[in-house]
Amino acid sequence: MINKLYFESKDKEIEKRAFKAIKREQDTIGYYSLPSQNIDYIEDYCNSIDDNIEAIAVIGIGGSSLGAKAVYEFIKPVEELSRKLYFFESTDPINIKNLLDKIDLDKTHFLVISKSGTTVETFSIYKYILSLQPDNKNYTFITDPNSSLEKYAKEIEAKVLHLPDSVGGRFSVLSVVGLVPLALCGIDIDGLIKGAKSVQNSFFQKGYLEDILLKKASFYAKNHARYNINCIFAYSESLKYFCEWYVQLWGESLGKRQRHSAFNVGLTPIGLIGPKDQHSFLQLIMEGTRNKSVTFIQIKDFQNDIEIPDISLPHLESLDTLNNLSFSKLINMQCNSLIEALDAQKDIPLDNIILEKVDSQTIGKLIYYYELLTSLVGELIDVDTYNQPGVEVAKVILKEKLKEK
Ligand code: PA5
Repeated sequence: MINKLYFESKDKEIEKRAFKAIKREQDTIGYYSLPSQNIDYIEDYCNSIDDNIEAIAVIGIGGSSLGAKAVYEFIKPVEELSRKLYFFESTDPINIKNLLDKIDLDKTHFLVISKSGTTVETFSIYKYILSLQPDNKNYTFITDPNSSLEKYAKEIEAKVLHLPDSVGGRFSVLSVVGLVPLALCGIDIDGLIKGAKSVQNSFFQKGYLEDILLKKASFYAKNHARYNINCIFAYSESLKYFCEWYVQLWGESLGKRQRHSAFNVGLTPIGLIGPKDQHSFLQLIMEGTRNKSVTFIQIKDFQNDIEIPDISLPHLESLDTLNNLSFSKLINMQCNSLIEALDAQKDIPLDNIILEKVDSQTIGKLIYYYELLTSLVGELIDVDTYNQPGVEVAKVILKEKLKEK
């Protein structure tokens, strides 16, 4: 993973402060230790699932689904997987019915994932599916130890797996929450963990990423009033759901009232996919208000590359320059041209992450990189990165409305 910054950031004092704070956080925040966990028990669990199970369905929302979805959708186009993975995340009835049409209830294992064990979306969908598939053998519950959900699961003698201590929903993809659904589909979870571990080592053990992440975080924090929108511009369709995961991680972690003031602050995440969004959102970046930073993500080696044939079209000879060009070269040329064009503007902060290829290690690296970056920026803009009080408010109102219905 290479990350080139196109902006200057030279505040050593701020960088030191952030590094110290993040080192301290390791004692209390659970996600930092996930790359060092022993994952043998996940293999044992996977072996306990019947061979006749053809599909896995996650029933969960937010941090309980987006991470696994990001990894699955990244790997699925390039690897033959042993099972399909579906995500029941929405109370949209059309979506629920549509997903149910795709699966055979007797050949699907459902993973009901909820840290709190009380999420309305998750339990409305679970109740509906339970009415169609009442066999408790077809369900595993993933939740915090001692939650009401755990008690329920034990009562119906279903399988239960626990989240490790102090791992928040949106930081849980490398825990049982993401690893179990992915492993059940045959995704290389060792690779995922290995990738995360390499980024962790690089950051905490004076590697290449220490400097990069500290510079980037301190730039975002110092300029958060001016550049308060942070776009990811990913040049691969398979990163679409990674962008969704990023939007949740960044938005829910960094949009807060500050810990030591009365100010509300936040950085707004935007996920864009190239080249499609060159024909849409790009205009706003290029000529709109100077309030956006852009991180380009490129894939160096797409594997299975295909080439544009040597065909000349009458009246369209100017497009012959495309002939014999591989699509992977073309998409990266498009990205590089855009970086050059934006860099020439001089007042749009840019950086470029180049991923080696499409595999588990690569996405593990990218996930952990963004988790660290989020923690650093959260520390520097003085918010509690790991809570989400703003999300709770609407949940309370909904619960009252449900009582009155
Ligand atoms: O990051 C978070 O904490 C949230 O997005 C949660 O993951 C989401 O609200 C789902 O909560 P739960 O896993 O408790 O059902």
